[in-house]
Parts: sequence; structure tokens; C-alpha cells
Amino acid sequence: MASTTITNVSNSVKRYRSSLTLSNLLSFDSAKSALFFYILITQTIKVQRHLRARGVSATLKELYIWVSQHVIRLILRVPATQRKVAAQMDKAKLDIENRLVPKGATVVRHLSLPDEGKSFEWIIAEMDKMDEELGGKRGVWSEGKLSGAVYHGGEDLERLIVSAYQRYCVSNPLHPDVFPAVRKMEAEIVAMCLKLYNAPDGAAGTMTSGGTESIIMAVKTYRDWARKVKGITEPEMVVPASAHAAFDKGAAYLKIKVHTIPVDRYTRKVDMKRLKRAINPNTIMVVGSCINFPDGNQDDISALAALAHKHNIGLHVDCCLGSFIVPYLELAGLSGGDDKGKYKLTPFDFRLKGVTSVSCDTHKYGFAPKGTSVIMYHTAELRRFQYYVNPTWSGGVYASPSLSGSRPGALIAGAWAVMQHMGTKGYLDSCRSIVLAARTIANAITETIPELYVLGDPPASVVAFGSKHPNVNVLEVGDAMSLRGWHLNGLSDPPAVHIACTRLTLPVVDAFIADLKDAVREAKVSPSGSGTMVAVYGLGNSSAVGPDMVGQLATAFLDALYKA
Ligand SMILES: *Cc1c(COP(=O)(O)O)cnc(C)c1O
Ligand SMILES: *[C@@H]1O[C@H](CO)[C@@H](O)[C@H](O)[C@H]1NC(C)=O
Repeated sequence: MASTTITNVSNSVKRYRSSLTLSNLLSFDSAKSALFFYILITQTIKVQRHLRARGVSATLKELYIWVSQHVIRLILRVPATQRKVAAQMDKAKLDIENRLVPKGATVVRHLSLPDEGKSFEWIIAEMDKMDEELGGKRGVWSEGKLSGAVYHGGEDLERLIVSAYQRYCVSNPLHPDVFPAVRKMEAEIVAMCLKLYNAPDGAAGTMTSGGTESIIMAVKTYRDWARKVKGITEPEMVVPASAHAAFDKGAAYLKIKVHTIPVDRYTRKVDMKRLKRAINPNTIMVVGSCINFPDGNQDDISALAALAHKHNIGLHVDCCLGSFIVPYLELAGLSGGDDKGKYKLTPFDFRLKGVTSVSCDTHKYGFAPKGTSVIMYHTAELRRFQYYVNPTWSGGVYASPSLSGSRPGALIAGAWAVMQHMGTKGYLDSCRSIVLAARTIANAITETIPELYVLGDPPASVVAFGSKHPNVNVLEVGDAMSLRGWHLNGLSDPPAVHIACTRLTLPVVDAFIADLKDAVREAKVSPSGSGTMVAVYGLGNSSAVGPDMVGQLATAFLDALYKA
């Protein structure tokens, strides 16, 4: 009995061995099963990493939202519902259009080129007429009743920018041999910013057209770096929910998976535990902001830098908004916070080991003309991954540092001129006055408006507020502020409203606080429920279909922009 068993076993081992010959291994069947196991394993790893990053409950919620969206889309296909929704949508689209595009018999439209060129005088007169009819020129923004948007350095600076622009009007840094001065100015702007952010020797950067391009360039740099150095072909990035949408935009353009990590509703700090869990061998970069756009708080950059260093991945610090404010807080004596220990700033720049890139918008608190920003890397080697070089193009050897090909040298000259004129002292003064204005607003909200609370502990120029009163909808407050002439930003999750203080805000701080108190009273006593913020941001997250609808409206908005 025993011997037959042994024979059986040895036979099957023999059979197994013979099936392991090379030709058998390469047979169709084993190849098929090898492929099957390969796919099974890689997909399992993917799912496992996704679950680890998002957590089980968040993944189930994602799944729930995905399913309900599809169910609702099915329901919306029922002709009767479809007609109703389409009618509502058309009405909303018309609304958007009416608000943006001037109507009426008196409006003159220029829809084709004039046969004969117009005179200078005619052109300026036509612009005067448009401004008068549409109320654009020195209307809304010069009164300072708006959040961010116009980073005006004063009328002197405006004149300086115009002179610089005029002088380099036709210049194009794509041709440094033709415009050597523009090349020099760009290199110097980058050098000045590197110094401002305490970059180490050997650090490097380029200018771009704005914060979004700087961020997209950083994302591309890490993608290409990770592919070359770490062999990563399915790149992922880890981003706090409070980071700018430009990171999602970059990831969408460049096919990178984004793990968005929630931030605390009150402190606005990112959940570090979940952020750590989201890092895996495919991670190319993490993101921190100083300061973030929605609520003006900063991430714990030291902790993020240590994490990035440990995993040998990039850490991009988004100082697009912090620009020429956060580097001056220390010098202004404001980084330690106020006497109650509020509004403290913690380290954020290249002095932290692990910070590998920083974006800084010269066109925000640098007061340079719109269309200028700087992207910086801790080494010149890393910057190379940003470049695009094509040595075999039929049009000649093509090499360009960033997204654009031809670029406006005039804007570089404008930025250089402004930075020379402002100097350390100028930026220090502007930092001090703007930050103190923001703190005045934040303190007024905390101490005198019990219905509202300030999101987090913002160290610089932005103050966001939410409602802690059950009968006060903060979006309603935002709409009441609009009726009082203010252009503020609505936020979601949690619903809130923010103001980014600029030099234009300085004279209207008291008016803002008075109007805000008024607006809160009104929103509490007689909410209208029909303002734009309530409509857009209320819908934004009230149902599974909300984001879909808001997306359609936002698309209609973009269409309306191009209605002549
Ligand atoms: C403004 C801003 C950006 C994007 O800059 P753009 O110049 O508008 O492209 C990125 N991050 C933050 C924090 C910003 O405030
Ligand atoms: C939606 O809004 C509610 C409060 O109005 C908030 O609690 C929730 O977190 C928001 N959700 C999202 C996904 O924005």
C-alpha cells in the first residue's frame, strides 16, 4: 500500500517536472494563466492601494455616489423628466448669458474686421464707450470691494509697468539672441525669488504665465523624474483637499491619479495619518500650500517635507498666493502671531530638507503684471525634467523651458521693473499693512459676530468664514454682501465665504466689517434663498446629481464668455 502511494507521488512529481520544461512554460495555456495571474495581482495591488489611501468608508461612499449618479442619469433619460430638466437648464443658461453679455439695439458689435483700419482716436473712444456702457474701467475694482483678483500696487507702479511694457512690447524670450536684456531680466527675477525663498546653492527655476502653469510644470517635472529615476509608469500624487484646483487640472492633463486627503473642518489641517497611508510605490509627489486659496491657512510643511524626504518623492509647496507676503512675515515681526498666539506662521521654504519645489506668483502680491509667475526647484537637475527638447523637428532644433513657445518679454520687463521699484522695504510695508488688515477682519469676526467663525488660524492675507448658527446660511450672507457691492468667493465643504485682502482692501476694512454685520442680520431675519452663492454652492453638494448640474452650468458659463 505504502509503496504504491510513493510510486504515485514520484510519478506525479516526474509529470510535474516534465511539465516545467521551457517549451511547456511557453505554451499558450501557461502564458494565458501567467497573464491572468499578472493582471489579478496588479489589479489587487491597485485596489488595495486605493482602499488604503481612501479608507473603506470613503471608497464605499465614492461607489455610492458613482452608482447614484448613474441611476439619476438613467432617470433623467425618461423623456418627461428630460424635458423638465432641459427647460430648467435652458433657463439657467439664459440667465448666465443675460448677466454676461450686453443686449439691446444700442449695443454695437464688431463681428468682422473693419475694411479700413480705424484711427487711434476712434479705438480709444470706442473703449471709453464700452467701459461706460459696461461699467468696467475704474468702476468696481478700484473701490476695493473685492476679494483678491486685482493685485494693484498703486498708480505709480501702473505707470512703471506701462513704460516697461512699451519698451519691450515686441520682445520674445524664445529668441534670446535678439532680446538679450529680456533674457537677463528673466534670469534675475528667478534669482531674486530663489533668494526670497532661501533656496540652496545650485537651485534653479523658470518663469511661467501664472500659478496654474507653474503648478502644471511641477507636476510634469515630477512625472518625468519619477519615470526616469524610479521607473514609475502609473504615477499618483497626494494632495490635501485645500490645495488649488490647478493640481487636479495638471493631473487631468498629464494622466496622473490624485488622492485628495480631507482637511479638518475647523483647524483646516490635513489628516496626516490618511495622507501617509495614501503614499505608495507609485507616488511621485505630495503637495502643501503656504497659504492655500480657500481659507488662507498653511499646511504643516515641516511634516510633509520629512515625509517626502523619507520616501524620496517630490514635495511641491504652493506659494502662488503666499508669493510676496509669506517670505516677509518673519521680517515684519508677524510670523510669531499676535499677542494671543494666533496667526502663527511655521517654516515653509527651501530651508526645510524635503522641499523640492516652490511656486510663487509675481502677479499676485508681487504686484507684477498679470501673466507672470515663478517655478523653483531645489536643484538644476530637477528643473531639466521640466524642459521640452526636440532635436529633430523639421523647423529646427526646438528647446523650450515651459508650456508656452513664444512668450511675452514685455511682461517679464514689467515684473522686473516692479520688483526693482518695490524692493525689500516696499514689499515689507505692503506685507505688514495687508496682513494687519486681514487680522483686523478675522478678529472682528471672532469677537463681534457670534454667528460666524473663522476657518482655521490664517497667518497671512486671506480670511474665510463659515456659520455656526443654525439659522444663518453663510452663502446667504455672501449673497447679502453681493447686494452691498462686494465681490467675494463662495467655498464648499464646509460652505464658507472668503476675502483675500489686497492693497485695495486697506481703506475699506471698516466698511467690510460693518457690511458683514448687516449681512448676517439680514440673512438671519429674512433669507431670500435665491442668491447666486446659495444657488450654486447649495446645489453643489445637496445631491448626487448636484456636481453634474453645476458642471453643466459652469460649462455654459464658459460658452457664454465667447458670445460676441
Ligand atoms: C491663484 C492661485 C493659484 C493659481 O494661480 P493662477 O495665477 O490663477 O493660475 C495656485 N495656487 C494658489 C494657492 C492660488 O491662490
Ligand atoms: C456638503 O455640505 C454639508 C453642509 O451643508 C457638509 O456637511 C458636507 O461636508 C458637504 N459635502 C461636500 C461633499 O461638500
